[in-house]
Amino acid sequence: MPEFKRYLVNIDSNSTHQLFTDCLVIGAGIAGLRAAIEAAECCNVIIVCKDTLENSNTWKAQGGIASVLNKTDTFESHISDTMKTGCGLSDEGVVDFVVRQGPELIEQLLRWGTEFDQIDGRIATTLEGGHSHQRVAHAHGDETGRGIAEALIRKVCEKPNIKIIEHFYTVDLLTNDDNECVGVIGHDKQRPSGADQIVWAANTILATGGAGQLYRETTNPEVATGDGIAMAYRAGAIFQDLEFVQFHPTTLYIAGASRALITETLRGEGAVLLDSEGRRFMKAYHESAELAPRDIVSRAILAQMLETNTTHVYLDVRHFDKEHFSKRFPQIFELCEGFDIDISRDLIPVRPSAHYMVGGVKTDISGRTSLRNLYACGEIASTGLHGANRLGSNSLLEGLVFGKTTGQLACQHKETGVVHIKHPLIKYQIPPSNRTRLDAADVTNSLRALMWRNVGITRTTQPLSEAQEIIVFWQRYVMDKIFDTPQGWECQNMLTVCLLIARSAQMRQESRGVHFRSDFPNIDDEHFKKHIEITR
Ligand code: FUM
Repeated sequence: MPEFKRYLVNIDSNSTHQLFTDCLVIGAGIAGLRAAIEAAECCNVIIVCKDTLENSNTWKAQGGIASVLNKTDTFESHISDTMKTGCGLSDEGVVDFVVRQGPELIEQLLRWGTEFDQIDGRIATTLEGGHSHQRVAHAHGDETGRGIAEALIRKVCEKPNIKIIEHFYTVDLLTNDDNECVGVIGHDKQRPSGADQIVWAANTILATGGAGQLYRETTNPEVATGDGIAMAYRAGAIFQDLEFVQFHPTTLYIAGASRALITETLRGEGAVLLDSEGRRFMKAYHESAELAPRDIVSRAILAQMLETNTTHVYLDVRHFDKEHFSKRFPQIFELCEGFDIDISRDLIPVRPSAHYMVGGVKTDISGRTSLRNLYACGEIASTGLHGANRLGSNSLLEGLVFGKTTGQLACQHKETGVVHIKHPLIKYQIPPSNRTRLDAADVTNSLRALMWRNVGITRTTQPLSEAQEIIVFWQRYVMDKIFDTPQGWECQNMLTVCLLIARSAQMRQESRGVHFRSDFPNIDDEHFKKHIEITR
C-alpha cells in the first residue's frame, strides 16, 4: 500500500469531544443489535451506525434464516450441508457451535416479536440451494430481514443503558501503544457544534456488515462500502479469505434501475431460469439445476449471457398462482409491478451481482479478533463458519449467534470497564500534500466498474494484476488527502479494501467455492486447503 496512514484524519484527543462507554457496538444489523442487547445485560452500551437503524443488509434480507426447525431435519445434516458448501475451509467446531444454537435463538426472536410465517402453529420453512432439508424460516413472506430487525430494534430501544447514535460515520478504530483497541474516532452528523467525536470504549464490537458497494452491481445498500474492513486493517487486525466474495445469481436487471435482490427461495419453491431464447439451461450445468450452489448458478448465467449475447437471463414464475405469489413474496411482487412486470405473464429479467463478503476480520470461536478488546461479528467477521462459500441464509444465523457471543464477551470484560481504561493521548498529524486532487465520486465509480470487470465472478492473472496497478495509482492521489466528509473516507476505504481483495484473489491460484480462476480452474488441496491471511 503506498504511503500507509494509520488514521484517515488528524487527531488531537485533547481537543476532541469525547464519550465513554463500557461497550461500543459499530453497526446496527442483526449482529450489532443482538450484541448490544446481550452486552446491555451487564454494562452501558453505545451503538453507532452510519445511517439509520433501518438501513442495513439485514433489513433487506429476503429469503430467511436457516436452522433445524423440522422434525425430519437434523443438526448433523445442517452441519454437513454447511461443511460441503464451505469446500474444505469451514471450521467444523464453529459450524457445530452455530448450527446447534439456531433453534433456541430463533425461538427467542419469535418471543421478541419477529412474526415468522407459520404453518399449523409451527414456523414455516423453505428451501434454498445447498440445503438438503427445508430449513429456511421467513417472516412476512420475503421481508424476513425487516421482521427480525424491527424486533431487535424494539428490544434495543427498551434498554435504558443502550444509547443509539445514528448518522455516525466511524472513521477509525483507536489503538494504544500496546495495540489494544480503546474506541473510535468518528463524525457525528447530528452534533451541532463540530462533528468530530471520540468514543472511548472498554470493549468495541465491530459489526459493520458487508461491502457489496465495492462492485458496480450489488444487492447491498449504499452504506455497505467496507469501512469496517478498512479501519480494522489500518488498526492492524488479521484478515482471512478476502478473495471469497459471493455473487447472488438473481438480481433484478432493468437498465438504469438500481439492482434489487430476487430471493433464492423463489427458485427453492419452483422458479426456473430461462435464457433469452426461452431455454431452461441450468440442468446442463449441475444436477441440482436452479438449486445448485450460488457460484455455479452465477457462472452458468454469465456463460449463457455470453452464448446468447445478452445482458441478462430470466426467472420464470408464470406457473405460480398470482394471488399466492403476492402474499408469499410481497416485496418482489411490488417491485415487479413497479416495472410493469406481470408475474403471471412476463418473465423477470435477472443477472448476478455482488452479495456477500465471505472473508473478513479473523476471529476465534467467541468473536475475538487479533486486537485486544476488539471483537467482530456478522458479515465483517471471518469466524470459520462459511469457509470458501456461504450456504444461503446461514448469515443471519451467524449474526445472531456471534452477536450474542460477542455481547457476552463484553460482559466478561466488565471488570476492565470504562473507568479502568487508560485513555492514551492520541495526536496524529498527516503531512500536507500538494499532489493533484482527484474527484472522489469519479474514482469510486471507476473503482466499482474495475472490480466488476477484473475481480468479479471469474478471475484470471492479467486482469487481477492490472486491477492492482490501477488501484495503487488511484491510491497515490487519494490516500494522501485529508477529507472531512464520509464520501471522501468511503473512497479511501474502498480503495484499501479493493486492493486487499484483488491481492488475495491473485494469491489463491486455484478455484474453490466462490473464488473462480479461469487460469486455475480446479481445486488444489495440496497448496491451497488453507486460509489466506492478510495483515498490515
Ligand atoms: O436469496 C436470498 O434471499 C438470499 C439469502 C441469503 O443471502 O442468505
